[in-house]
Amino acid sequence: MPVSYEERLQGFDWSMAEEALGYKSGDPINIGWYCSDRICDMGLAQKPALIWENSKGAERTYTFDEIRILSDNIAAHLQSQGVQAGDRVCIFMDRHAELYISFLAVLKLGAVVQPLFSAFGEESLYTRLENAETNAVLTEMKHVRKVRRIRERLPNLKNIFVIDGAEKPLKELEQPLTMNALPAAPDFKCAETGPETPSVLHYTSGTTGQPKGAQHVHYSIVSQSITAKWVLDLQDDDVYWCNADPGWVTGTSYGIIGPWSNGITQAVLDAGFNTDNWYRFIAKHKISVWYSAPTAIRLLMRDGADLVKQHDLSCLRHLCSVGEPLNAEAVIWSEEAYGMPFHDTFWQTETGCMVVTNWPGMKVKPGSMGKPFPGITAGIIDPETGEEITEPGKVGIIALRPGWPSQIRGYRNNEAGWNKKFLNGWYLCGDQGSIDQDGYYWFSGRDDDVINTGGHLVGPFEIESALLEHEAVAESAAVATPDKVNMEVVKAFVVLKSGFEPSDDLDLAIMNFIRKKLSPLAMPQHIEFIDQLPKTRSGKIVRRILRAQEFGEDLGDVSTLMNDDD
Ligand code: PRX
Repeated sequence: MPVSYEERLQGFDWSMAEEALGYKSGDPINIGWYCSDRICDMGLAQKPALIWENSKGAERTYTFDEIRILSDNIAAHLQSQGVQAGDRVCIFMDRHAELYISFLAVLKLGAVVQPLFSAFGEESLYTRLENAETNAVLTEMKHVRKVRRIRERLPNLKNIFVIDGAEKPLKELEQPLTMNALPAAPDFKCAETGPETPSVLHYTSGTTGQPKGAQHVHYSIVSQSITAKWVLDLQDDDVYWCNADPGWVTGTSYGIIGPWSNGITQAVLDAGFNTDNWYRFIAKHKISVWYSAPTAIRLLMRDGADLVKQHDLSCLRHLCSVGEPLNAEAVIWSEEAYGMPFHDTFWQTETGCMVVTNWPGMKVKPGSMGKPFPGITAGIIDPETGEEITEPGKVGIIALRPGWPSQIRGYRNNEAGWNKKFLNGWYLCGDQGSIDQDGYYWFSGRDDDVINTGGHLVGPFEIESALLEHEAVAESAAVATPDKVNMEVVKAFVVLKSGFEPSDDLDLAIMNFIRKKLSPLAMPQHIEFIDQLPKTRSGKIVRRILRAQEFGEDLGDVSTLMNDDD
């Protein structure tokens, strides 16, 4: 049985997490080293670190010693090609072994790793590379053309490494990087980065402006490692599977750093969603701990419990979920189908690690996100006064007292945006929720206009900017509309310029126009032509009204919302 929540809570402080990691305050700390060299030093060099499979049935296992050596070789090679400590290095590829191993390599070099979801289109890619002033990109032939189309607008970009580029026609700045054929680098010295040295740069969306670069530091590993160990309940002989892509924070905090810093074997499936294939994968590799997301769970539910019985899933021991509200039905279904509940966890790109969790062994209240992790001071705040709400069940803003190890240190080149997240000494998550009489947290909804589609945050600004570039569009508003599987999808309301009339052809033309600019996730599923948008007196669009209509919610007296001009 895992140690109880109450017991862990007693006298917890983060120095215990440093100790668990083997870190002494004042020493250098490098995530790449802690995830590979240290594990080998602990006698686990021959233990599998990565069991990798793709959609074509190719399969490979890498030991901790192999990921140590290969990440050193990649780091030394990048260095020899001019990549330096502090540079931003973007990894833009599908879930190849190279993604996971070069993630460690970039960190070992002391550079900042910027993983981006490979499904991004060129404009989504451009915005993020431009903001990060990215110096190098590691990619593959399948995606290199997107980089080629924007390269000239990126003056800082000096190197494009193509993992399958050997003997392929490459262009300016490009060179092949064949991981298994790189010269050995036994003398490579891992950078002695400090706790505050920038490490991972993830991009996340807000209501206004382009996506923000959330800057993590090497010290984040302290809370990522202990939360992985305690909340995912990782044990030495576990085989762990995280469904998230490392283009998003779950895929790095708990798809690389959490498991590997604990010396845990993890499995990766580079393939799209398919229930039967997922169950086959779990049974084949004897996955025991599984970290998934509500959208995937809803798809598994759709395919029914009968399919579960066709596979031997007795290897599963502990299930967790993140990214969106995990509805009570999904928890109850998982108890019936797998014999155990999914444990919801709540956190964000900005928090770097889980902050509110269902502790293993703690009573699960289906629909609740659980309780704050030891060392995390959470509360529900009145957004007007910044005072804590103590009344059970009363909804306010979910907030955290700053200062845990993996809280980001800011948004890149956007100090004002980061400062806005704080009120009365609290960090505001941008979500609404409440606490019940037993101290369990319940999620109510976002407190801003960000759309959460299938666990991915999409900011309205990006979509509206793309729409506005179309010659027929005068104004637009992107809001969430309900969806059975993805919880929410994007809907765009469009006001046309005079001289243009709504029609199916125009709808299609606008969709095709913005498809080139947006990632598939951010694409509206519907466009509705509308005469005018709801606005405040000073002319700000009130997306909340459109959203509420989509969800059939009663807004009460709308005139007060229209006056709300903050
Ligand atoms: O709105 C909350 C939702 O996802 C947001 C964070 O998104 P992101 O930074 O992309 O990180 C996602 C993975 C950590 C939160 O502000 N969210 C995350 N987990 C939950 C959730 N909403 C409800 N329940 C959750 N468990």
